[in-house]
Amino acid sequence: MRKPIIAGNWKMYKTVPEAKELVKGVLDKLGAYEQVEVVFCPPFTALSAVKELIKGTSVGLAAQNLHWKEEGAYTGEIAPAMLKDLGCDYVIIGHSERRQYFGETDETVNLKAKAALAAGISPIICVGESLEEREAGKTNSLIKEQTEKALAGIAASDIAKVVIAYEPIWAIGTGKSSNGQDANEVCGLIRATIAGLFGADAANQVRIQYGGSVKPNNIKEFMDQPEIDGALVGGASLEADSFINIIKY
Ligand code: PGA
Repeated sequence: MRKPIIAGNWKMYKTVPEAKELVKGVLDKLGAYEQVEVVFCPPFTALSAVKELIKGTSVGLAAQNLHWKEEGAYTGEIAPAMLKDLGCDYVIIGHSERRQYFGETDETVNLKAKAALAAGISPIICVGESLEEREAGKTNSLIKEQTEKALAGIAASDIAKVVIAYEPIWAIGTGKSSNGQDANEVCGLIRATIAGLFGADAANQVRIQYGGSVKPNNIKEFMDQPEIDGALVGGASLEADSFINIIKY
């Protein structure tokens, strides 16, 4: 059985005091709820403060990016061991905003995924198609390609630690979510692609999230799907009540 994983991607929001307030608000209402794994993905500057607050709980911590080198002269970058040091369990890799605005490619996604695993951090690898690609009927081939390239060279023994987030770009921050059936189909294709690379048993252990305008009122539709094991939530994770209502769908 795959444990559902619901992660709140805060993007470039929340100062340290704001981060603490949000985490306290969520933890208060979360109680001992263990049915889903909850993960906070604050900006780098709030990782430490969030870690302090979630210590002793089963809530996980994720960064939103990392560099693939162990260390070096890379001004402004953060190395895997630095994130491990702060207690990160996960790191988001290849978010469409990083692909679109910061030159992330399938190749750098792959390097980062391997570097994260080598440091003992589970990558949450994002894949997704644009509206033009969807309308041109390229969704399946593109998602398969992104998945294969992201996972190239990863050890079979590591694959169960990987989380994939299917995030159609046209659904991110737009209020236009996909629907359960369409998202389930693409997540099934991702699982079949992983099975082609690593075998069916391995593929059955990988958790695949849906992301893109997930809200309290549509989370159940996605979580009811057999291939969807969680959600990567942006806007609706920035406020304790809406995030809790998603977690406890
Ligand atoms: P959204 O963002 O929930 O605000 O659409 C999702 C994401 O970018 O991970």
